[in-house]
Amino acid sequence: MNSKIVAGNWKMNCDRSEAARLAGEILDLLDAQDIPGVDVVLAPPYVHISEIAGLLEGRRGTFTGAQNCSMHQKGAYTGEISAQMLKSAGARYVILGHSERRRDFHENNGQLTQKLERAFEADLRPIFCCGESLDERDGGSHFDAVKTQLEPVAGLPAEFFSKLVIAYEPVWAIGTGRTATPDQAQEMHAFIRKHLSSDKDHAAGIPILYGGSCNDSNAAALFAQPDINGGLIGGASLKAGSFVQIARSFPS
Ligand code: PGA
Repeated sequence: MNSKIVAGNWKMNCDRSEAARLAGEILDLLDAQDIPGVDVVLAPPYVHISEIAGLLEGRRGTFTGAQNCSMHQKGAYTGEISAQMLKSAGARYVILGHSERRRDFHENNGQLTQKLERAFEADLRPIFCCGESLDERDGGSHFDAVKTQLEPVAGLPAEFFSKLVIAYEPVWAIGTGRTATPDQAQEMHAFIRKHLSSDKDHAAGIPILYGGSCNDSNAAALFAQPDINGGLIGGASLKAGSFVQIARSFPS
């Protein structure tokens, strides 16, 4: 388990053959030049998890992730997918609380607390997302907004902190081509680390990823910041060359 992570959030893209091709191209590029010390996570749609996990099996530093999981363990929840099922399909990570899920599926802190519990029970590593809207940033309430979104994490027992990953994704930067500047991102990452460390000693080492129009041109400047430990990548994760280049963008 590395503390530097680059995760590709494929969202609702790729049919079966496109997913296998994209993963294959990424693996070929990683084979050509290993990236020591960085965990590379591919988070395809649920239906491709088994297949992608099969392609990644036995490889060091590459992992499959899911984009969500149910807040329930099992039972009569038509259409839902449990954390345990994801684990058995080969997932090792799960993205939780992405802003698209908070906005479009009305996920709230109570539900996200349960999803975190399910993820830890299933031994999945959660990538817990937070990030303010443009109105909150412009109105100066961005720190408060992020603090409120982090409530499910702040309440976790200390033993879970070693498995937790945070992704800071300002909503105004997601899919917009508008990236937070390295200074803006660093300021928020430092705030998040300090906030989580105030009641948990273990929080200092939590990987905090930046997400929001991160690409192969801006990743190096972002990853050079002391509290930015990698990226959660949307659009650019669908292009193998860009994605692997992002994973190579840590300072040496
Ligand atoms: P983007 O998406 O890189 O396309 O902005 C990031 C995300 O939503 O995780």
